[in-house]
Amino acid sequence: MEWCVPMPKIELHAHLNGSIRDSTLLELARELGEKGAIVFSDVEHVILKSDRALNEVFKLFDLIHIITTDHKTVARITKEVIEDFAADNVVYLELRTTPKRNDSKAMSKRSYLEAVLEGIRSVNSVEVDLSGELKTDAFAHSHSADGLCNGIGSKIYVRLLLSIDRRETAEAAMETVELAVELQDFGVVGIDLCGNPNVGQWLTFLPALEYAKKQGIPITLHCGEVPNPVEIYAMLDFLPKRIGHACCLEDEDWKLLKRLEIPVEICLTSNIKTETIASTDVHHFADLYKSNHPLILCTDDCGVFSTSLSAEYALASSAFGLGKREMFHLAQKAIDFIFASGRVKKDLKAIFASAHTKLNL
Ligand code: IMP
Ligand code: ZN
Repeated sequence: MEWCVPMPKIELHAHLNGSIRDSTLLELARELGEKGAIVFSDVEHVILKSDRALNEVFKLFDLIHIITTDHKTVARITKEVIEDFAADNVVYLELRTTPKRNDSKAMSKRSYLEAVLEGIRSVNSVEVDLSGELKTDAFAHSHSADGLCNGIGSKIYVRLLLSIDRRETAEAAMETVELAVELQDFGVVGIDLCGNPNVGQWLTFLPALEYAKKQGIPITLHCGEVPNPVEIYAMLDFLPKRIGHACCLEDEDWKLLKRLEIPVEICLTSNIKTETIASTDVHHFADLYKSNHPLILCTDDCGVFSTSLSAEYALASSAFGLGKREMFHLAQKAIDFIFASGRVKKDLKAIFASAHTKLNL
């Protein structure tokens, strides 16, 4: 399915620390091993393993966070992740990450985000658009390498979603939302609720999420990764702008989701590798697609699950019998569900229109 690569694509569900190159993780782990902070041989096989059940994934994230949570590394992985998505012809990327406090590294949630922004600004293999959504700002940055300014692969729009981790307190969640409000001029376009679905209570995060909503910040929720009917209903009833996964919904939830037309971020490889869904044969993509329900193909964690957005498109195409044109249309439809402004939507429509002609569709 080589044709999935040249196609312009939109990525709306990608976690920064889940999207790191294996080679970078191994290099960083080796360095920490040399400093005696970890035992490299103990972690090497953990990093390289790609099939893990949902609970094991969160253990891996704890290890990744030990390896990556200092300012210099956060900036480096951000830069590399953007370069990798751009190389896969992702033209618009909403990258999500939980702002982290790490006292041993003099890191606050704010300084973590400054490191992420520094990483975005340091990308030089592709032009990056990181304009603020409210007004033009001094830090909005756009640059390009010589000769790379035409067409797909030469420019990527990057926006940030700040994630609240379900392990966090109500206060920490509120701090994240306050940062999102403050950093709207710096490319932050939304809030996400993520983390181990077996940890934490919806009600803990509700005040912060309601505050975000009141401030006009779009919200996406990891919803229904495990069966939890009460929480799933509460999440749908909250009317988020999008939800991620939606694996364990019951008949009534499906009806409600469809009636509310809440777009679903679908992460096929993630769902299958974590054993949340047994196989593509029983994946809800098929029913949602047939019902013309808004959905977006995404990677979730392309590093942890060894995938790419092109690979997700190829998988959907073969598993659900969809051709090149249908896949292009699916990618194009995602424009309607991005959290960035109308100006970006207009630009993306032009990019897809020109690709449509170029790719002979
Ligand atoms: P970070 O926010 O950049 O550190 O990205 C890693 C974090 O994303 C993890 O610690 C989880 O909180 C979250 N995450 C990644 N994959 C999943 C998933 O499949 N379900 C829920 N949360 C996830
Ligand atoms: Zn996710």
